[in-house]
Amino acid sequence: MLKVENLSTSYKTIDGNVRVINDLSFEIFDNEIFGIAGESGCGKTTLLKALYDIIDFPLELDSGRVILSGEKNGKPYSYQSGEIRKTWWNNISYVPQAAQSVLNPITRLKYQFLDSIPKEDRDNETEEQTLERVAEYLKELSLDPDLLNAFPFQLSGGMRQRVIIALATFMSPNVVLADEPTTALDVVVQCGILMLLMRLQKQFKNTLVLVSHDMGVHYQITNRMGIMYSGSFVELGKTDDIFNEPIHPYTKMLIGALPRVGDKSLKVGIPGRPPSLKNPPPGCRFAPRCPNATKACSQEVPVFQEILPGRFVACHMFNNGGIKEERHGD
Ligand SMILES: Nc1ncnc2c1ncn2[C@@H]1O[C@H](COP(=O)(O)OP(=O)(O)O)[C@@H](O)[C@H]1O
Ligand SMILES: [Mg+2]
Repeated sequence: MLKVENLSTSYKTIDGNVRVINDLSFEIFDNEIFGIAGESGCGKTTLLKALYDIIDFPLELDSGRVILSGEKNGKPYSYQSGEIRKTWWNNISYVPQAAQSVLNPITRLKYQFLDSIPKEDRDNETEEQTLERVAEYLKELSLDPDLLNAFPFQLSGGMRQRVIIALATFMSPNVVLADEPTTALDVVVQCGILMLLMRLQKQFKNTLVLVSHDMGVHYQITNRMGIMYSGSFVELGKTDDIFNEPIHPYTKMLIGALPRVGDKSLKVGIPGRPPSLKNPPPGCRFAPRCPNATKACSQEVPVFQEILPGRFVACHMFNNGGIKEERHGD
């Protein structure tokens, strides 16, 4: 599992620090699809980078840590921020945003597979034997093994994304992180990629962390999800619960903005824009856009707390256990 403990990161820019993840704590469990949602610029990619331990300039880890632990082939393992990269591909892998560009367009795919499989994991096989295993794996994913001789530039966007997912899952890591894996693709291809990700998660019983700004994607495939706003989570819980009964006003707006079959009403976007991360407003960062905001909201930062079992919300309306009282009353 992945445990995030009081994680804070920021970008060091010439105009000063931009704090993007701010004192975040949460857990991602084994054998689940965990979604990270939120508007563009809210910090989804930054969080995923911290989970994968790519904290490179200008991004810095200010405090806290991520712990990746589990068991593989009967052996327990535990790595924390700063060590997680030792186990890339093996216990955790990453499909970056705009992953299409991670493949070198002029290197045949077979060499890119060989490069990403650590030598010590090839059990004294020859390259041909390793490539045979890769070819078998591609067949399992209904991909043509002849792809190994192709150059990435010869493939369509959807096919390249499938190959990247094959590459990321070949070593059967317990955690796969995928950043907007369907965003640049057309709807039919998107659906195929989501099916592939779901199928692999079922087969390996591993953990898939899926970043998408598209709430429809979360509704379709995630088990639990976190909603990010301006560098922090504002709500986290089971996806079904969040869609059936969103609690945070921002979550309500995101869900309200989704089109539904048969609903011909004009959907309004969320009024206003997310605040600047360089100069965030005091108090709750959503307060300037929130229809329920009170004076306290623009003064005090709400605590991200568990208000129902497994349901976390950062909102002053619930900070004093308001929802619990309401529940007892009904
Ligand atoms: N290289 C960078 N240098 C400075 N600030 C950055 C950099 N990358 C991202 N940021 C800041 O981090 C915020 C979150 O970015 P990101 O994690 O990419 O969001 P998302 O993936 O949700 O669109 C951006 O709004 C920007 O302010
Ligand atoms: Mg992003």
